[in-house]
Amino acid sequence: MDNTQAIAPPSYSRRQLLNFLAGTTVAVTASAGAYAMGKFFVPPAEKGGAGGGIIAKDVLGNPIPASQILTEAPGTRALVAGLAGDPTYLIVKEDGSLDSIGIVDSCTHLGCTFPWNGNDQEFQCPCHGSRYHPDGSVARGPAPLPLKIVQVAVVDDQIFISPWTDLDPRTGEKPWWV
Ligand code: FES
Repeated sequence: MDNTQAIAPPSYSRRQLLNFLAGTTVAVTASAGAYAMGKFFVPPAEKGGAGGGIIAKDVLGNPIPASQILTEAPGTRALVAGLAGDPTYLIVKEDGSLDSIGIVDSCTHLGCTFPWNGNDQEFQCPCHGSRYHPDGSVARGPAPLPLKIVQVAVVDDQIFISPWTDLDPRTGEKPWWV
């Protein structure tokens, strides 16, 4: 969502927020000048649905139906409000379904948010240069740990996000956040 208004172009974080307001965000390019946004939204406390997960929502607190995200191309990383208000990437798989693993948009170095770079197929943190593989494992430091992941389930077109408490599929070990 790149508006061409007669004002200064938005920073990456501003653009990301505007996209997020529209319901989905496709972070396709790394962006210079990006900076840590921190937690810019706080979802209402809510439980329900599959495994007690919360319903994925946009910044305004509106539920985002799975069908809305699944109109995006395979490979899309869509940003939604996840657990505790953490921005969370949901992934459209090649078969057109939603991946059962979501990736929390919080760098394990110092907590910056970061875009997905589709050209490089990496999450790239603008703060100190950490890079992550598509599954959230570290490709380059200073990030010390893989990105936090969450469970994603779709029930009746609603997207439920719940904590990941199983072994970390990237390390085969207990997750660092559990
Ligand atoms: S916060 Fe991401 S590299 Fe430092």
